[in-house]
Amino acid sequence: MLGFMGELQFIALLVLSLQTISVSSSSNEGLLRGFSAVPHSSVTSFQAILGDNTGNFSLGFLRVDRTRLALAVLHVPSSQPLWLANPTRLARWSDTTRLFFNGSLVITDPREGVLWSTGTTGDRVLLLDTSNLQVQSDGDPPSVLWQSFDFPTDTLVENQNFTSSMSLVSSNGLYSLHLGKDFMGLYAKYSPSEQIIIYWKHKAQEAKAQIVVGGGPLYAQVNTDGYLGMYQYQTSSLPVDVQKFNSFQRSNVSFLLVRIEPDGNLKGYYWDGSKWALNYQAIADACELPSPCGSYGLCTPGGSGSGCSCLDNTTSYQPVTGCFHDRRQEYGDFCDQGIAKNDYWALRRKGVEAPHKELLRSETVSSLEQCESLCEKNCSCWGALYNNATGFCYIVDYPIQTMTGTRDESKLGYFKVRNSPPGKKHSIGAVLGIFAGAASIIAIVGLVIAKYLKRKKTRGIKEDGISLSPGPYKNLGSSSSFNSE
Ligand SMILES: *[C@@H]1O[C@H](CO)[C@@H](O)[C@H](O)[C@H]1NC(C)=O
Ligand SMILES: *[C@@H]1O[C@H](CO)[C@@H](O)[C@H](O)[C@H]1NC(C)=O
Ligand SMILES: *[C@@H]1O[C@H](CO)[C@@H](O)[C@H](O)[C@H]1NC(C)=O
Ligand SMILES: *[C@@H]1O[C@H](CO)[C@@H](O)[C@H](O)[C@H]1NC(C)=O
Ligand SMILES: *[C@@H]1O[C@H](CO)[C@@H](O)[C@H](O)[C@H]1NC(C)=O
Ligand SMILES: *[C@@H]1O[C@H](CO)[C@@H](O)[C@H](O)[C@H]1NC(C)=O
Ligand SMILES: *[C@@H]1O[C@H](CO)[C@@H](O)[C@H](O)[C@H]1NC(C)=O
Repeated sequence: MLGFMGELQFIALLVLSLQTISVSSSSNEGLLRGFSAVPHSSVTSFQAILGDNTGNFSLGFLRVDRTRLALAVLHVPSSQPLWLANPTRLARWSDTTRLFFNGSLVITDPREGVLWSTGTTGDRVLLLDTSNLQVQSDGDPPSVLWQSFDFPTDTLVENQNFTSSMSLVSSNGLYSLHLGKDFMGLYAKYSPSEQIIIYWKHKAQEAKAQIVVGGGPLYAQVNTDGYLGMYQYQTSSLPVDVQKFNSFQRSNVSFLLVRIEPDGNLKGYYWDGSKWALNYQAIADACELPSPCGSYGLCTPGGSGSGCSCLDNTTSYQPVTGCFHDRRQEYGDFCDQGIAKNDYWALRRKGVEAPHKELLRSETVSSLEQCESLCEKNCSCWGALYNNATGFCYIVDYPIQTMTGTRDESKLGYFKVRNSPPGKKHSIGAVLGIFAGAASIIAIVGLVIAKYLKRKKTRGIKEDGISLSPGPYKNLGSSSSFNSE
């Protein structure tokens, strides 16, 4: 049904390397000062460095997009990465890249110097049976100087504390989870600006404990009793909020985690001994995801005619490119110098509403014309949605994503569509479009390699291969090993 996301995942899978694990050393004393390791050219997927004492978890070099290296903690039976040291600054898979421990755990490369470091003065590195990687200093008891649990990537495992200073970021870099004063929220980054937009908000229900005003900040934790809890520091040990998983109060479920997915959903899983079973999802309806049909798409839930189409009824929806072949139209706003009012055209559509509209700015107006004019006059506005029955006018002040289709024709949408691109930017749509027809594995993988080689001289996160998104570690997702039902 939702072809756009399907295709994204298809491409992600092509670029993923095969998940075969090469197990090397493992030591229960951990890594001591003087330890050093380099990646072997023969390893295709994962080079283990340090295991925990159950054998369930392993720290090692994970090969990403064939040529790059992330230091990762993996769940061994599923090869699923749970944590990455350096998601925004991947190293090269090259024998000049080195991991060493001199009190700090450090990744270096002769060209770029220190790529990542724990910045500690410790005595050993240990991988605990919780998947937590720690730098400890000797003593009785040993003290923890640094732990990976404090720097989550896209996954939060059971008993890991998620605080308001942390975020989970999806592997494509587009979506993130944050804690607020009394809620948790999912946020999207739709344009290269720093602006992030909330699209899902879960307020603490305060059933078991109240939030104490003036008390500590909130933190969240995946509780082994089968829920995602929110708690308040320095007050009660009871949760101020409980989001139940399917496995709620089931004692036979062994290892729980939540992960922010490349489609923007927050999902929970448990390990059933052979696969990751879906246990929770923040957003159940695919049309409520932040951009299930891409920009200027229309997602219609349920029944016949459901799935993706385009807001512009003269454009047909294409699974890979969505509704726009030139994504340069989606950036910034209409306030930039030199971009006059008539650099866009107005697209109108009946029977549309904004998903998560309760999180949009709204005003009560007396007519559709007034609603449209609120948007037309404001150069930071991209669109307005009017509900004729209630008089609400919802303002979208970021590039138009997927709207929700409804049979109710009294809900009307007004959208600005940019005529000309604002300067040269990397066009994802165009690149993908060329290959859409003959999307053979070789062509796409070849493109990635060619692009990488071409950019070898001036490397950087922004210049990352065939970018489906601005994110740096987009293809690590391997949602493949998460079983969705
Ligand atoms: C460990 O190595 C890093 C990188 O070379 C260096 O910056 C740091 O000072 C070293 N730490 C110690 C304790 O020697
Ligand atoms: C999580 O926070 C609680 C409450 O402060 C603390 O007792 C616990 O040790 C923390 N867990 C980890 C793994 O840091
Ligand atoms: C960890 O390993 C034990 C056996 O050593 C197994 O029973 C358990 O399911 C594993 N847990 C995970 C999360 O893989
Ligand atoms: C756990 O127990 C429940 C019954 O209480 C059963 O339905 C379920 O299949 C079990 N799950 C696993 C992973 O063994
Ligand atoms: C497309 O939308 C326009 C304007 O709303 C409408 O006049 C036209 O009939 C629609 N065309 C189709 C094929 O639905
Ligand atoms: C224009 O829109 C922005 C963002 O929605 C809003 O903050 C601002 O107040 C609006 N300006 C006017 C003049 O309405
Ligand atoms: C909007 O509502 C008015 C009455 O409130 C009604 O007369 C009009 O037909 C409605 N327009 C649409 C497009 O539904």
